[in-house]
Amino acid sequence: MNCFLILSMAVIASLKADLLMEIKPPDIIIGLTRQLSINCSFIRTDITNMVKLISLVVMRSNETDTLNFYYQASVDVFDGLNNVTGVVSGLIDNRHESYITLTWSNPRSTLTGWYSCQANGENLSGQVVTLSKTAKVKITNPTIEDLLDVLERQSFALELQSSKFELQASQLSKLQYDFEHMGSSVHEKCVCCDTLNSSLKSLYHISALHNGSRYYLSPASTILLMKEAEIQCEFMGGYLTEMDSEEEYLFVKSFLKNNTGYITVYTGGNDGAFENNWVNTYSKTPVKYIKWGQGQPSGGTANNCLALWRDYDWTAVSLKCYQGVVSDSRGYLCEVPEP
Ligand SMILES: *[C@@H]1O[C@H](CO)[C@@H](O)[C@H](O)[C@H]1NC(C)=O
Ligand SMILES: *[C@@H]1O[C@H](CO)[C@@H](O)[C@H](O)[C@H]1NC(C)=O
Ligand SMILES: *[C@@H]1O[C@H](CO)[C@@H](O)[C@H](O)[C@H]1NC(C)=O
Ligand SMILES: *[C@@H]1O[C@H](CO)[C@@H](O)[C@H](O)[C@H]1NC(C)=O
Ligand SMILES: *[C@@H]1O[C@H](CO)[C@@H](O)[C@H](O)[C@H]1NC(C)=O
Ligand SMILES: *[C@@H]1O[C@H](CO)[C@@H](O)[C@H](O)[C@H]1NC(C)=O
Ligand SMILES: *[C@@H]1O[C@H](CO)[C@@H](O)[C@H](O)[C@H]1NC(C)=O
Repeated sequence: MNCFLILSMAVIASLKADLLMEIKPPDIIIGLTRQLSINCSFIRTDITNMVKLISLVVMRSNETDTLNFYYQASVDVFDGLNNVTGVVSGLIDNRHESYITLTWSNPRSTLTGWYSCQANGENLSGQVVTLSKTAKVKITNPTIEDLLDVLERQSFALELQSSKFELQASQLSKLQYDFEHMGSSVHEKCVCCDTLNSSLKSLYHISALHNGSRYYLSPASTILLMKEAEIQCEFMGGYLTEMDSEEEYLFVKSFLKNNTGYITVYTGGNDGAFENNWVNTYSKTPVKYIKWGQGQPSGGTANNCLALWRDYDWTAVSLKCYQGVVSDSRGYLCEVPEP
């Protein structure tokens, strides 16, 4: 199927009520929207001059000024269903209703843009007639409420499940996106705050008090994106561990050794802004103490997050801030100061 079409919207016949396009939901909240579906349906009525429907085609434009539509999926009387994305279903039924539905699970930002649904058919004299509808899929940043909602559902669900870490993984790992705009205001609006807070904390291994802080070792398998870890640390009143001295490092190392099970434990520290300039993710101050492991840091600009590595005797390594799969050998360490 030839997938590139440039259409001028002007030549397409004006909209008729026969053709309906529904986008559910019209706003994608990355990480939180579970499913996006585009449903385009056609019923012939008296107002249309299209007597025979031949195809329904869904197209998308990722530009806003000039609409360059690219083929996404179609259903037609000769060829049935075709698609280049999503999961497609549909049929052409000239006596009743025809439709095409495109569905994506866990939609990403690459799906935003204008969508057009075209109905191609013939009029009474056998000439080609085209009807079309357009609608927009937008991306919305998650609000604090959205995140809290997820955390809340997660913590209630956790109480009901024995395989609790698995569940947390499958829910939180969906938050594969940048929560940049909400990190600092995470405390502002909170429903069930205390319950949520204490049920979150109950998932962590908590160290003894050391120089004013406790260290919270996360449950396994929870995190794909370090931003999620940051948010969870902040929610509990802390931040990803900021290593200020050798003394602090030795305490942390001893704590990790005593609670083995993981191979990798992320701490705070990021060199995404300037290569090899390690900055505490939360405080934005330079990381004061790093005991690098053998051959570290490695990975250059691909590896911008700091972690401690068991097999290098819990010395520091640079890793990706995003992991493609959940793992029960990976965790992160929050530092929560106490008054
Ligand atoms: C698509 O829309 C048509 C008409 O409204 C409806 O009959 C059909 O069930 C819808 N399909 C989906 C998957 O929503
Ligand atoms: C729009 O999508 C086309 C085809 O997938 C791609 O080649 C093009 O770079 C995209 N443009 C923008 C602005 O994302
Ligand atoms: C639609 O496209 C996707 C991705 O190319 C493919 O996996 C799927 O099998 C296609 N067909 C249907 C019927 O969804
Ligand atoms: C069919 O479409 C053609 C081209 O748009 C038009 O000239 C013709 O009058 C139409 N016939 C009917 C019966 O609507
Ligand atoms: C203890 O914490 C204070 C304040 O955070 C810091 O200035 C000091 O260096 C820490 N002491 C040690 C031994 O890490
Ligand atoms: C969770 O509890 C800690 C104190 O243990 C507090 O500092 C933090 O603000 C609480 N988080 C929220 C979101 O209320
Ligand atoms: C680790 O275990 C050893 C031996 O039980 C103990 O002395 C040490 O204080 C523990 N370290 C931490 C950080 O809890």
